[in-house]
Amino acid sequence: MSGHWTAADLPDLSGTTVVVTGASSGIGLVTASRLAGVGAHVVLAVRDESRGRTAAQSMVGHVEVRALDLSSLRSVRAFASAWTGELHILVNNAGIVEHRVQAVEAGRPTLGGDVLNGDTT
Ligand SMILES: NC(=O)c1ccc[n+]([C@@H]2O[C@H](COP(=O)([O-])OP(=O)(O)OC[C@H]3O[C@@H](n4cnc5c(N)ncnc54)[C@H](OP(=O)(O)O)[C@@H]3O)[C@@H](O)[C@H]2O)c1
Repeated sequence: MSGHWTAADLPDLSGTTVVVTGASSGIGLVTASRLAGVGAHVVLAVRDESRGRTAAQSMVGHVEVRALDLSSLRSVRAFASAWTGELHILVNNAGIVEHRVQAVEAGRPTLGGDVLNGDTT
C-alpha cells in the first residue's frame, strides 16, 4: 500500500455482506460500487428504489436494492425486520450536505454521516 490510501487497497471482501445507506448517488454510490467490485454482497439501502436500481445497474458484482428512508422510523423498522442473516459492514452514508428544514414522519429531521474516505475516482 502506498502512503495514499485508495480503493485499490481494498481487500477481497468475498463472503461479507455490506449495507450502504444513500447508495443511489454521490459518495454512497461510489462506495457501494467499490465494495461490490472486491466481492462483497452489497445492499443498496435507498429511499428511492427506482434510482437505486439505476445505480445498481452501473455496478459489477452481487448487488441488491432495498427501500430505506431514514427520516421514517416506520421505514427503518421495516428494513430491520426484513433483514435475515449476517451483516458485516454498515456504511452510514445517507444524509444531506446542506441544512434545510424539512418535515419528517418521525425522528431527527437532519441526518449526518461518517463516510468511508478514499479515492472516489
Ligand atoms: N460531499 C461532501 O463534501 C460531504 C462533506 C461532509 C459530509 N458529507 C456527508 O457524506 C454523505 C454523502 O454525501 P454526498 O455528497 O454523497 O451527498 P448526496 O450526493 O446528496 O447523496 C446523499 C445520499 O443520501 C440519501 N439520503 C438523503 N436523505 C435520505 C433519507 N432520509 N433516507 C435515505 N437516504 C437518504 C440520498 O438519497 P436520494 O438519492 O434519494 O436523494 C443520496 O443517495 C452525507 O451524509 C453527507 O452529509 C458529505
